[in-house]
Amino acid sequence: MYRLLFSLVLRHLDPERIHHLTIRALALLSVLPVVKKLLHRTLAPSDPALRVSAFGVHFPSPFGLAAGFDKDAACAEALSALGFGHVEVGTVTAHAQPGNPRPRLFRVTEDRAVINRMGFNNAGAPAAARRLRRTRGVPAIVGVNIGKTKVVPESEAADDYVTSAKELAPLADYLVVNVSSPNTPGLRNLQAVELLRPLLAAVKQVADSTPRRTPLLVKIAPDLADDDVDAVADLALELGLDGIIATNTTIRHSGETGGLSGRPLKARSVEVLRRLRARVGDRLTLVSVGGVENVDDVWERLLAGATLVQGYTAMIYGGPLWAHSLHRDLSRRLKRHGVKSVTEVIGRTAP
Ligand SMILES: Cc1cc2nc3c(=O)[nH]c(=O)nc-3n(C[C@H](O)[C@H](O)[C@H](O)COP(=O)(O)O)c2cc1C
Repeated sequence: MYRLLFSLVLRHLDPERIHHLTIRALALLSVLPVVKKLLHRTLAPSDPALRVSAFGVHFPSPFGLAAGFDKDAACAEALSALGFGHVEVGTVTAHAQPGNPRPRLFRVTEDRAVINRMGFNNAGAPAAARRLRRTRGVPAIVGVNIGKTKVVPESEAADDYVTSAKELAPLADYLVVNVSSPNTPGLRNLQAVELLRPLLAAVKQVADSTPRRTPLLVKIAPDLADDDVDAVADLALELGLDGIIATNTTIRHSGETGGLSGRPLKARSVEVLRRLRARVGDRLTLVSVGGVENVDDVWERLLAGATLVQGYTAMIYGGPLWAHSLHRDLSRRLKRHGVKSVTEVIGRTAP
């Protein structure tokens, strides 16, 4: 049904316009408690075999929505009601900013991919905090992903992240330092260990000081050299971070300027996951993202050592019931393999 709608109508419309309409519809859903609850009861993962715990948080399933869809925390509950086991909102920056000029979002339909150069368009940390403070009508695990305000120079980056962390860490089930988006000039330089160490240490201090101690993760790019992946992993261990999210979009492509996501990212995303697992074992929670389309992809990531798996681009092609059907397939697969809990699968093929 969605496929038909996509090929007949949606693919001919401006992707960012569709995105904003979708967010508006979901935000409306968020303020309709009865519908939201009904959807949640019907679509959210309820199979106990899917439950996982990571960094002290209990997730109803390992699969969630990656950052960048709900940049302003406008509809996290509605997205949970559609079946995502968690929703990562953001990237939020300390100050509101418009992002790059349009057009900045491009479908690459033949590759089931997307290129974006959005540039962290968002209403800023205080606005996101206001939304996150609203009481939750349905259970939702909400991670908050923070990034650097574009106009802030690299030398003041740590303070800028700290400003966002102070505002948002107390409201987040987990916090993510994003240093890997390709569309903020210089941002990915912050992945260099000598710049990353003081930045993560400063944000960690804030995350540790919240009443519940907010778990802290760092999100990395697929374009890091393998040695740099190892270096970030070592740093995350050294600083006592809770996990690593791998990966963001790649700039290794020949299309429009921006980061490529979706199917072409799959192989490198898995490669980075395997490398991280070999380096850190189960001492950190690994969150795998990049080119996840179906239950086979989720299964592969779990086996390779990811405790949580995320996706975004495949929803553009798969539609609003994507997460729900993926969870249904995952439950079936567990049954078929005679596995009582998805946690038994994690890291099973890792060295
Ligand atoms: C339109 C778009 C916007 C994105 N914005 C962000 C963002 O603001 N912050 C972030 O950490 N990742 C962002 N991402 C990256 C995704 O979270 C994810 O890491 C990447 O798309 C790979 O997953 P996928 O292949 O399932 O889409 C964005 C991706 C897309 C397609």
